[in-house]
Amino acid sequence: MIEKNIRKIPVNFLDTTQAEQELTLLAKEIELHDKLYYNENSPIISDADYDMLRIRNSKLEEKFSNLKLDNSPSSKIGAPPSKGFERISHAQPMLSLANAFSLQDVNNFISRIRRFLGIYEDIPVPIIGEPKIDGLSASITYKNGDLVVGATRGDGNIGENVTQNIMTISDIPKRLLGSNIPQMVEIRGEVFMKISEFHKLNQNRETDGSKVFVNTRNAASGALRQIDPEMTAKRQLNFFAYGYGKTTSPLPTYYNEFLDNLKDWGFQTNPLSKRCENIQDTKKLYDKICETRNTLDYDIDGVVYKVNNVRWQERLGAAGREPRWAIAWKFPAIQATTIVKKIIIQVGRTGTLTPVAILKPVHVGGATVTRANLHNEDEILRKDIREGDTVLIQRAGDVIPQIVSVVKEHRSNTSNKYSFPTTCPECGNAAIKLETEAARRCIGDLVCPAQVIEHLKHFVSRGALDIDGLGDKQIRAFWENGRLKKPSDIFKLEKLDKDAKIPLFQQNGWGQKSASNLFETINQSRNVTLEKFIFSLGIRHIGQATARLLSRKYQTLQTLTQAMVLSRPYKGEYWDELENIDGIGPIVARSIVDFFAQSDNYNEIQSLALELNIEPLVVINNESPLSGKTIVFTGVLKQMTRVEAKARAESLDARVSGSISKKTDYLITGNNAGSKIQKARSLGITILDENEWMNLIL
Ligand code: IVH
Repeated sequence: MIEKNIRKIPVNFLDTTQAEQELTLLAKEIELHDKLYYNENSPIISDADYDMLRIRNSKLEEKFSNLKLDNSPSSKIGAPPSKGFERISHAQPMLSLANAFSLQDVNNFISRIRRFLGIYEDIPVPIIGEPKIDGLSASITYKNGDLVVGATRGDGNIGENVTQNIMTISDIPKRLLGSNIPQMVEIRGEVFMKISEFHKLNQNRETDGSKVFVNTRNAASGALRQIDPEMTAKRQLNFFAYGYGKTTSPLPTYYNEFLDNLKDWGFQTNPLSKRCENIQDTKKLYDKICETRNTLDYDIDGVVYKVNNVRWQERLGAAGREPRWAIAWKFPAIQATTIVKKIIIQVGRTGTLTPVAILKPVHVGGATVTRANLHNEDEILRKDIREGDTVLIQRAGDVIPQIVSVVKEHRSNTSNKYSFPTTCPECGNAAIKLETEAARRCIGDLVCPAQVIEHLKHFVSRGALDIDGLGDKQIRAFWENGRLKKPSDIFKLEKLDKDAKIPLFQQNGWGQKSASNLFETINQSRNVTLEKFIFSLGIRHIGQATARLLSRKYQTLQTLTQAMVLSRPYKGEYWDELENIDGIGPIVARSIVDFFAQSDNYNEIQSLALELNIEPLVVINNESPLSGKTIVFTGVLKQMTRVEAKARAESLDARVSGSISKKTDYLITGNNAGSKIQKARSLGITILDENEWMNLIL
């Protein structure tokens, strides 16, 4: 009785005694439901009600952190499996890194920094170099020193909430130690599996007949993304901390001091990290880490260089997804020889025929390689690759292995030149090759199963609609039984199933729970941003970045559709507007216009629009006074270089133009400003001096 009354009181209105009482009750209740769910397999409350108990428990623990119980359900391994993971938004995006492949690239990186910040050659730019750990990045949020959220990188903005699993990693403190702890901080680092642990795990998997992992990164990713945290705990994972996201207190002035903070707080940082005073030092460190590589019990795939001055890091910011203040010098590709058992042809969603070599498995750079990308017909001809050939292959980082050359001395006398098919292996239609293109393409479009299936696979993939539960196998099965021919059919599956003779849950591979989970995920995916929607359409040349540009420009599906239809003659106002979007060239513009011009595509977009709730663009920097404004700079600024000013404006969602027009909102004037001032005056454009500009951006 008592607990029911307490439960009705909002957390903020509870006093300490009540909170204490309720935390004890919640712990007991959650434990009981866990037992019923896991051990007895007979839960007595719905998942939603169960989640409510956990949410209330977390809220109470957040408000009354000193009352958190030792046996708190939130810190116990064996938390409930979630259906997939909750998605969680990073307070600051998780960036990736630009790659360098030579000392010259690192040198250029430092020169770019100098130019950007306006630093003369005689002022040193100290850099910290450290190994690039081959694992998966994670972001861990601490509030008042307590670990509250652990998330995967996801798409950089939104990751998966894997808090319970993160809690099982002993290198990650549940509570920060030491001093200078910000009220809130996101700590970034790499979750990885030691090589020794990886071999142990694979040996066990081999014994019990499970598929072995090809590398430590996949093994770590599999372990971290286990639905049951107890499974994560069983697979030993480790963590090196190396970065920060959002923080409520300013970071130390230098990155090496931040690394010291991390150590004080209880993290492991990489012992090979070292300060480099100049370019020669960066090379010395690279060589040293290369030499040490084979002696380490964890995989690394390069050296990361970071500007040591954190204030400079802040000013340098990022270009797209890559910070200007860091770069990864990747280790060179590792080579090996093996045999081409067979050449197979894969058909992609745009109908491209891609040849793939099936190889005799070979171990290269910590991974077992079984196939190599042969790119296209010309490449096979050029290298004269044949079935049965002994070949030299190379693997560099994440890239799919490539065939470098054929070891001709080992070729058998009876081998034949490879002849590339001129019909599609999937649908039998002609596969044609345009003079202007390297690839041969199947003309089957919507009747070619490979194209349709690949299209559907892309539509439900992570960066797109992200429908978990519709994997390759399920899509193929739905396609074969005629229920799925185009993306919009996905949203009709549930209704169709209600009238079906044999409903999904009675079909092979499905059960009551998995079928209802699938329909639930499909329904959840109906809310989608315009950006994801555009990307999900799988238009040639339209990746995530271009989809974002288009959604920023057109903001709603209706405006986008109208503009694409009106751009059809490839000229005129609408076409010019499209082609003038920064980052979109004529090929990309043509590709999207052609896509909308094709009536099947157009109709499918309309069908999808009826099924989905396509959210118009959310402007991230909506508080920025520069959002959507067009800015022109003139003259020399004293406090930042022109590149920095431009980057700053763009990061605040403004557009920087080189010349004044009616569309200009602000002209920013530095020293020796020229004729632009007169032009701006005549058009009535707001003119700001450097101080006014600085006030606007700070
Ligand atoms: S810094 C904004 N430092 O490499 C800086 N990343 O290719 C971004 N990585 O997503 C990260 N070791 O997962 C940094 N010492 C290190 C790293 C490291 C591995 C990973 C990280 C990142 C990826 C980019």
